[in-house]
Amino acid sequence: MRCPEARHRVASAGLRAEGTGLPRNFYIRTYGCQMNALDSQKVAALLCGAGFGVAEQLEDADLLIVNTCSIRDKAEQRLYSDLGRLREWKRERPGRVIGVAGCVAQQEGDAILRRFAAVDFVYGTHNLRLVPALVAAAEQGLRSARTAESRDPGRFDVPQLHPDLPSATPGRAFVTVMEGCDMFCTFCIVPRTRGREISRPAAAIEAEVRELAAAGVREITLLGQTVNAYGRHDLRRGRAETAGTEGFAALIGRLATVPGISRIRYTSPHPSFFDAALVRAHGEQDALCPHVHLPAQSGSDAVLERMHRPYTAAEYRALCDRLRAARGDVAITTDLIVGFPGETDADFRATLALVRDVAFVDAYTFKYSPRPGTRAAEFADAVAPEVASARLEELQELLRSLTLAAHRRRIGEQTEVLIEGTSRHPGQVSGRDPYHRVVNLAAEVEPGELVRVRLVEATPHSLIGEPVAIPVKYPAGPADEGMRSAQL
Ligand code: SAH
Ligand code: SF4
Ligand code: F3S
Repeated sequence: MRCPEARHRVASAGLRAEGTGLPRNFYIRTYGCQMNALDSQKVAALLCGAGFGVAEQLEDADLLIVNTCSIRDKAEQRLYSDLGRLREWKRERPGRVIGVAGCVAQQEGDAILRRFAAVDFVYGTHNLRLVPALVAAAEQGLRSARTAESRDPGRFDVPQLHPDLPSATPGRAFVTVMEGCDMFCTFCIVPRTRGREISRPAAAIEAEVRELAAAGVREITLLGQTVNAYGRHDLRRGRAETAGTEGFAALIGRLATVPGISRIRYTSPHPSFFDAALVRAHGEQDALCPHVHLPAQSGSDAVLERMHRPYTAAEYRALCDRLRAARGDVAITTDLIVGFPGETDADFRATLALVRDVAFVDAYTFKYSPRPGTRAAEFADAVAPEVASARLEELQELLRSLTLAAHRRRIGEQTEVLIEGTSRHPGQVSGRDPYHRVVNLAAEVEPGELVRVRLVEATPHSLIGEPVAIPVKYPAGPADEGMRSAQL
């Protein structure tokens, strides 16, 4: 499964800022998860609104923003190696500006300004709106860092669309419904980079989804660090009405009624908040995709306890059973960590057993990486790096065989693919089916189109399909027209 830290790029044709006479083009380099990718998209829309143009490549840019991730040490180190190289980029053209954003920025704040003279401004995960002002200040020679935490749900209402900004994901969009995390898994830095949990009012979410649908979006992915914890604090404290929030399943039901939205996904749910209503929704809501990415982390109860994951492997298995009872064909994927401090060989075998029993279709697998400031970073009994590497290899081997078997079982089946772009194989395009599997096909179709295909071949990473119906083009227009013609 492709690493979630793959770089996302917000780019398009090189446009020039109007009115200034000066070329002021920006380029955003994004690391990390989908929420970081969406934050970059929102900042790009803000910059377009402030008269900036989009640079196709770094060389054409006057402003660079590096949107960072600190989930593992490797992710954080990418920023530092980038900044080393960027000194030269800055020198090449006077007036160039560099900003640092995202989870490393949130944690390090003005320490980044002190350590790297080439950085002009730093902003944290709650401060997207400040970017145009920070750039303007930087152009006056003022260096600043803004990383204040905010409890204002209005901070989510930054539009992600702008007429000058081509969609990085035609036909699809991410929508943040909650941010932050109160779970404090002992290995994880995210509660320190995204702050405390806060849920966005349902009406604001629905308004954004309606706007996206009107612009041609057919598939939405609801985002949150523990996305299915949506509304839980407000509901528990009896203030859901004033906060305008509701339960997560109710939110899905509300969004499923938006004309034009034919696919709803969400990531990442936490097993502890997976209630009966959400399980039921998978059996009842046609728009809800039959795929659940449900991070397990480990199959050993002892490890889960030390990770501060409040469920047992048996409870996790039972949840997967309930999901399959509600929706027989649901594809379950997961996140797993190997080499957590104190993980014995028996603990690791328990993870392999969980993987076999649940028969995950795929998984993101990680070697534990100690993060300064987390509880696990202080734990004794570190697992030797070569042991962790061997475990990772064994786990990945098992997952490869499960993925291939799951793909092979589907040969002959018909499915619908939302095209994302060209495939790595010449002459083919690539997209995802409702189960979130990558399907490649030889057809002349544009990103954002929905194609009905028959699956004809399975590979370890993807499926190959043949179109069985004329693809449906979704123009940005009356949203439900596209829906009707999609039901070919
Ligand atoms: N909010 C999601 C996970 C977000 S981070 C959840 O609770 O499931 C994505 C994944 O990165 C995690 O599920 C975990 O598997 C992995 N991860 C997080 N911190 C890590 C660390 N310190 N070392 C290795 N993997 C880590
Ligand atoms: Fe990190 Fe755990 Fe929160 Fe997920 S639930 S973001 S792994 S602390
Ligand atoms: Fe990385 Fe921050 Fe996302 S640490 S995974 S960019 S929440």
